Amino acid sequence: MTRSDALVLFGATGDLAHKKIFPALYEMAADGELEVPVIGVASSVGDDAYLRSKVWSSVNELVDDVDDRVLDRLLSRIRYVSGDYRDARVFEDLGKLLTDCSHPLFYLAIPPDLFDDVVTGLSRCGVAARGRVVVEKPFGRDRASATELNEVIHRTFDERDIFRIDHYLGKESVESLLLFRFANSMLEPVWNRQFVASVQITMAEEFGVGTRGRFYETVGAMRDVVQNHLLQVVAILGMEPPVAADAGALRDEKAKILRQVRTIEPSDVVRGQYDGYLDETGVAADSDVETYVAVRFEIDSWRWAGVPWIIRAGKRLGVTATEAVVTFQRPPRLLFTPEDAPEPGPNFLRFRLGAHDGVQMHLHVKKPGDALVPMPADLEVSYPEVLGRREEAYQRLLEDAMRGEARRFGREDALDQQWRIVERVVEDHPPVERYEAGTLGPASADRLAADVGGWIAPEDPPPSVP
Ligand code: BG6
Repeated sequence: MTRSDALVLFGATGDLAHKKIFPALYEMAADGELEVPVIGVASSVGDDAYLRSKVWSSVNELVDDVDDRVLDRLLSRIRYVSGDYRDARVFEDLGKLLTDCSHPLFYLAIPPDLFDDVVTGLSRCGVAARGRVVVEKPFGRDRASATELNEVIHRTFDERDIFRIDHYLGKESVESLLLFRFANSMLEPVWNRQFVASVQITMAEEFGVGTRGRFYETVGAMRDVVQNHLLQVVAILGMEPPVAADAGALRDEKAKILRQVRTIEPSDVVRGQYDGYLDETGVAADSDVETYVAVRFEIDSWRWAGVPWIIRAGKRLGVTATEAVVTFQRPPRLLFTPEDAPEPGPNFLRFRLGAHDGVQMHLHVKKPGDALVPMPADLEVSYPEVLGRREEAYQRLLEDAMRGEARRFGREDALDQQWRIVERVVEDHPPVERYEAGTLGPASADRLAADVGGWIAPEDPPPSVP
């Protein structure tokens, strides 16, 4: 695969560029992975120095131990084109800067309603045909708009040159789920409906929408994190082993399992909104947008039929933690323990996917003493302790896109299935219920987990990390 020889960033003065992309570019420069021109495009008036100062501030604010030589090298590669994306002049200016480049990477860190203007502009000025394109989430608002976006992009780029970002696919913690499942053969015999009682995923965030109120009003928790990040986690937990190392083989398996996930019914959804959301900047006074959502569904596959899957995600909850928990069947009643001894609960495997990532196996051991009484005990592997620092998602995703490696990006068919799974409930859903900040969301979500032993409280940090 040919390496991209320029990076063009649309939306260069936006929030995402500041928070994620510029720090990732710095890390790439530090690793010698960014020896190409970086051209930012945005509507704010300014020159190269203007964008360089933005990159400088982002890196100094967000990267630890900045090496000034690396940063200077990065800054020297930065150019800026300012103007309206509907203005042909912007693309002419860009074309001039790309004269010596044969395979640019175009990164659209912009709202989807601007994709058409940018892709058309690129196509008209003749630079698109030689390049690849990275598109940010949200990829559409529903199944129909995602199809339309695909049509717009496909007018200019082939599917193999389109890289749809879901930053969860760039996370070490999420990728290690895949390896953990298939590299530990003791799991395979029990990883199915015979032994697994339920699967639950929690994505809890202590913070609210902050300065993103206006954006959040257009999405809500279902579109913001369930349709993409959390369904990707479902796919990895549920899929069959890929048959080859290429990106196609992995993406085939994901598309297959996602096709088998049932469309979520409105009766299997609980929506919540934190107290105080209506006072956030950019939020409508009568907003019914959910900052919390819980859903339940099944997967119609031979491996999973009948196993309940439950997902919840919310902001301003009591903890920041993303976890997937696979709960196994309970053991039969222990006839050899004293009558008043507690019955051991089910074993579970807890995959921590957030900052303190790792795996926990919940087991039972004998309580010290005369009688045969069980008590719970956990086996823990903390990835930061064992593995140290690992690359951030955005760095890996950008490096992959520059190389044309598609494994960690969404494919059109899988994405269509992800929208199909939520399509009924993004339109037709119960109204939001208020919940107090610092809780784990509306109590009525408990009904979705009532017959699987309830929601398992997320832990962060895990007990072994002080
Ligand atoms: C983003 C969402 O995609 O993911 C945010 O737009 C959310 O609302 C974020 O907070 C969570 O990402 P992470 O990597 O912190 O789990």
